[in-house]
Amino acid sequence: MKLCIIGTGYVGLVSGVCFSDLGNDVVCADNNTDKILNLKKGIIPIYEPGLSELVKKNCKAKRLSFTSNISEAIRESNIIFLCVGTPTKKNSNAADLSQIFIAAKEISRNIKSSKIIINKSTVPVTTCDQIEKIISKKVNKKLFSVVSNPEFLREGDAIRDFVYPDRIIVGTSEKKSNKILRSLYSPLISKGAKYINTSRRGAELIKYASNAFLATKISFINEIANLCEKTDVNIEDVSIGMGLDKRIGGRFLRAGPAYGGSCFPKDTRAIIDTANKFKTDLSIIKSVIKSNQNRSKLLLQRVSKILKNKIKNKKITFLGVTFKANTNDMRESSSLTMIPSLAKKGAIVKYYDPTGYKKEFEYQKNVTNSPNIKEACLDADLIIIHTEWNDFKSLNYNNLSNKKNFIIYDMRNILPYDKIKKGKLKYFSIGR
Ligand code: UGA
Repeated sequence: MKLCIIGTGYVGLVSGVCFSDLGNDVVCADNNTDKILNLKKGIIPIYEPGLSELVKKNCKAKRLSFTSNISEAIRESNIIFLCVGTPTKKNSNAADLSQIFIAAKEISRNIKSSKIIINKSTVPVTTCDQIEKIISKKVNKKLFSVVSNPEFLREGDAIRDFVYPDRIIVGTSEKKSNKILRSLYSPLISKGAKYINTSRRGAELIKYASNAFLATKISFINEIANLCEKTDVNIEDVSIGMGLDKRIGGRFLRAGPAYGGSCFPKDTRAIIDTANKFKTDLSIIKSVIKSNQNRSKLLLQRVSKILKNKIKNKKITFLGVTFKANTNDMRESSSLTMIPSLAKKGAIVKYYDPTGYKKEFEYQKNVTNSPNIKEACLDADLIIIHTEWNDFKSLNYNNLSNKKNFIIYDMRNILPYDKIKKGKLKYFSIGR
């Protein structure tokens, strides 16, 4: 079996590389020629721990290759994965499916022998029906099948999530396709991954419902954290106490800044759009979106309160600006709201992120990048721990700044609370 992956973004690249590592012959195709040229040289376009090593290993073993000739890659493969982007449409909540439909047309022009087309891109329910319709305009239905196989990879943990998935969802009603998919995933199934065969539309909806539910869980605990702050309760106790109930589960119950990234904000909006089309009111998800939008405002109000409403000329340092740790991704990071807002109010903001300088703050007045933690914190009045990088967990926090009475606002609750409480440091955190 030869696999072709269309789209070398986050999902496509990680999936393609991991499938090749399982011993499959994989070609990753993308119309971005620069990206392909770089990948051929071993230059990886995304920050993902462990990925570069796997690319090198599998290219060397000649199981993995890269091409910008998508037509040829389709013709030479039996299994084609669609892994193109589905961003939010301009001025709308809907997912922009143009890349999916362009790829479907490209596939339809290049099917000469039997192929399985597997969609991994996050798409609204019924999209695979549309892909099938586009291809069947040019190709006999007996020659191909379209399967939905959503991904559940987290940035920063993508390789581990691929190799040890909680579940593999395959949406198809065709026995032959199901058998081939099961065999493709058999190395993971034998290690304990659960393989679930559902309807195609079911698989599409499982993806959106999962992301929307996880976003709900985070917003829920963030709101409970607000109540904890008013009632002298520690949110960490609440998260542990709730999470030990197996019906609830402890994961994704960490209170913090607004959730971000390329998925939760986009997918919660897209499922609302789909529900509108089908005249269904998803009121809970609507509230989650609102709650999350409000989150950065709330945390900014707390910053203001911590600084006794005197933000002008205060030196504020952000430790970490990405939407979470182990990624260089800035998409929908809450720092993109908080930093400009503080700078606008006259604060002098410095930031340090283990993944370096961020072009997002390039034209922001009074915002500068620091090369290391020490320089970033040197004369800070307030240090905000925004992202939960390991680099910040064992800081010598008492001497971070040489300013007398400097303050730490730990938005991820990563510093040792009980120990800090006994000292003299002015320390604030989330939900306690
Ligand atoms: C998310 C899902 O977790 C993946 O399963 C899914 O495949 C992916 O979207 C996708 O649709 O492609 P990702 O966006 O990489 O993955 O990141 P997460 O680890 O889910 O974090 C998302 C946001 O939630 C981050 O801002 C993170 O800081 C926040 N979060 C997460 C919390 O605030 N608290 C938590 O307990 C967990």
